[in-house]
Order: sequence, then structure tokens, then C-alpha cells
Amino acid sequence: MIPVNEPSLGAREQEYVLECVRTGWVSSAGKFINEFEERWAAYCGRRYGIAVSNGTVALQLAVACTGLEPGDEVIMPTFTIISCALAVIYSGGVPVLVDCDPRTWCMDVAQVKEKLTPRTRAIMPVHIYGHPVEMDPLLDLADKYGLAIIEDAAEAHGAEYLSSRGVSESVFRRCGSFGALSCFSFYSNKLITTGEGGMVLTDDPILAEKAYGLRNLCFQPPRRFYHEALGFNFRITNLQAALGLAQVERIDEIVARKRWMGQEYTRRLKDIRGLQLPVEEPWARSVYWMYGVVLSEECGMDANQFAQQLRERGAETRPFFLGMHEQPVFQKRGLFLDERYPVAERLARQGLYLPSGLALTEGQLEQVCKAVHEVLA
Ligand SMILES: Cc1ncc(COP(=O)(O)O)c(C=O)c1O
Repeated sequence: MIPVNEPSLGAREQEYVLECVRTGWVSSAGKFINEFEERWAAYCGRRYGIAVSNGTVALQLAVACTGLEPGDEVIMPTFTIISCALAVIYSGGVPVLVDCDPRTWCMDVAQVKEKLTPRTRAIMPVHIYGHPVEMDPLLDLADKYGLAIIEDAAEAHGAEYLSSRGVSESVFRRCGSFGALSCFSFYSNKLITTGEGGMVLTDDPILAEKAYGLRNLCFQPPRRFYHEALGFNFRITNLQAALGLAQVERIDEIVARKRWMGQEYTRRLKDIRGLQLPVEEPWARSVYWMYGVVLSEECGMDANQFAQQLRERGAETRPFFLGMHEQPVFQKRGLFLDERYPVAERLARQGLYLPSGLALTEGQLEQVCKAVHEVLA
């Protein structure tokens, strides 16, 4: 079976992790944490990096830093992982949903304006499957209405967006550079992995200070075990950061490999009727985190049936997200009742992603494409 994901870990990763074991710096102190934070923040063009134990808590930390009042609203796509909505709910806020763009599968930015209310405090764009959200209109809205942007770049390490805000000539800027607070995941299927891990980036020294404090139980120096605020234990270990640093050192090679993989899949699958492939908008440089495909209903199959047929031919896949408005846990809490988002609903039923891990060989990619051709012949 060709796995949907397999990380690529090398000699440098081994060397750095072994150094932690040899020296005993295995917990949440040690040189790799700072180095990893600095390197990743610099790569994304940010001043501060606050590394945490996973991407879900990175979002939770970012939302906590914005200081929501109970009932404050945060606009986000319905088509995303539950972590986005959880982060807002845990902070006492209310997630407000928009549908997605049928081409990029990212949030439909034109719908955001319609969802603004006097309670709106933030917008949470999520760069889906490695393709950036159209950021300029969101940044304009945020400026106009005094909202925070909490950027979820968990799936978009190294992806770029062509921004023309505040400059005479448009420039490509990396995902993770747009939010007042921007979040990453370093789970093992991400471009950069620390096993489990995440990071919050910001340029604001006050937000950074707040995030460092909240990450570590709000210990308040100089007295030990003294607290003036409620914090979390969201710390990352030196072991994880060691892995992360070795990975960041390879980021250019990793991004190039992912882009090659995306382009190669497209080249081999583009002539199949009834199969929608990922796009790369002219204003975007996608990293094809996971190579998603959407089956037309005319094929007479949904994504489940397609997945089963691919499995029988040796290719593992994953279904697309199920929208937040279709989640029983939120329905039970009275959220999103009777809300409909047709694009996300269709993607959830007709979409899946193909094996896209960094260890995928050209031969395996060819086998996957052969299986797709066979099933849809
Ligand atoms: C868009 C997005 N945000 C947040 C997360 C949460 O990250 P983690 O799995 O590290 O908690 C993920 C996880 O894959 C994700 O895809």
C-alpha cells in the first residue's frame, strides 16, 4: 500500500536529536528551541516565534492572545479542521462560518464582509492544502473594521501570496507573514515536522510576550510559582525543536520537492474527464501540501467509493474535511443550525487527497496515477 504520507527524515535530524539525548536536554529548556523559533520566524519574515506542542494549541494560544470577550465572533471557513473552531470556543468566542471558493477550496473572501457584525473581532483565514487564501481583501477589511487576522498556515509552509498592499509593485510574501498572529502545525504530515508541534508567529512584542507567558503557565518572575493570570502548558520539547531545526535547514529542498510533486500529478491527471485538480492562481505559489482531487457527480461515484477502488489498487487516500456546520458536536451545542454551505458540502462528499508525503517516489506517484486512470477509465 502506498501510504498517504511518510515523512522524510535525514542524517541531520538524527544528529540533532541524538545531541539532546547525549546531553540530557530533552525537555522544554535547551538551545534548539530558540534556534528553531528564530529560524522559522526569519524564514516567514517575522520577528517572534513561539513554539508550542502542536498546531491546535498554536491556534488556541493565538486566539487567547487576542483577548476575546464572551460572545465575540471570529469569521473562518467552514471547510477546515475542527482546531480552528475549538480555539475560538475555548476562548469564549463564537465561530462564524463562510463557504469556500470552488477553485482554491480556501475561504470565499467575498462572503466575509456579509458576516461582519458589531461583535466581529477577528478573521481566521486558513490556507487549504498548501494554496494561499486571497489575503489582500481580508487585510483591507481588517484595517477598515479594526479586526485581528489570525492566520492558520498549518498546511502552507513556504507557500506564497502576491500582495499589492502598501507597495508600488506587488511582491510575493510567505504564508505566515500576514496575521497579527500566524499559526503553524509541525505534525508528521506537514512540510516541516517535529513529530507533534506548532508555532505562533508575530511582529508585535506585546503579543509575543503574552504568548510566551501563556505557553508556560503564566509564571511571573521574579518570584517562582507566582501567577497573575491563567496560563497553559503548551510547551514544546528540545527534542522536538531539534528535529524541527534540522528540517528548517532543508526547507527550500522540501518546498521544491512538493511543488514538483504537485506539478507532476497535474501533468499526469489533467486529461481525465470529471476530475477537478488543484489550481494555482496567478497570485499564488502553492506548496501542494496534499494533492486533492474532486470527482464530478457524473462519474457516478462519491469520494468514499473512489477511495475504496484506489485502495484495492494499492493507493491510500484521505477524505476531504467535513465542514464545521455539519459536525454533530456543534449541532448539539446549537451552533450553525440550518446553515448551508454548498461548496464545502460538495467537497466533503466528492473530494479526497492522494499520497503526497515527502518520501513518495516518482515510481509510486506513477502507480497512483495509473490507479486513478484505471478507476475513472
Ligand atoms: C489547517 C490546520 N490547522 C490546524 C491544524 C492542527 O494542527 P495539529 O494537528 O498539529 O494540532 C491542522 C492539522 O493538521 C490543520 O490542517
